[in-house]
Amino acid sequence: MFKKIDHIGIAVMDLKRAVELYSKKFGLSPFKTEELKEQGIKVASFKLGDSWIELLGSTREDSPIGKFLRNRGEGLHHLCYQVENLEETLEVLKQRGLKLIDEKPRRGAGGKRIAFLHPKSTQGVLIEITEG
Ligand code: CO
Repeated sequence: MFKKIDHIGIAVMDLKRAVELYSKKFGLSPFKTEELKEQGIKVASFKLGDSWIELLGSTREDSPIGKFLRNRGEGLHHLCYQVENLEETLEVLKQRGLKLIDEKPRRGAGGKRIAFLHPKSTQGVLIEITEG
């Protein structure tokens, strides 16, 4: 079902500082930043091998990342696994009794089609899936 880790999402209070940590201190490059305006999120993505590290900052208090930071503080936010077929995987997981946040794929960072599974079904880990 899961082919590989596509990326790891990390919630940060200060995106600029986090970008400095990963670029200057960890020496990772290249990276790209984008703003998901409707979600109130800013994302800086660093390529690492054939996976990515996604640093997630909030531009609004009521954004999903803003809420996460308030409730849980900074740290690991989600894991994203690559799958063969997003619709099919969502259907299978639903049949297997998993709770889904997204019943249908939507657009995530980089314009990729993604969907989230509910952490209540996955021992507290927020799982994103994408076709990669
Ligand atoms: Co992600």
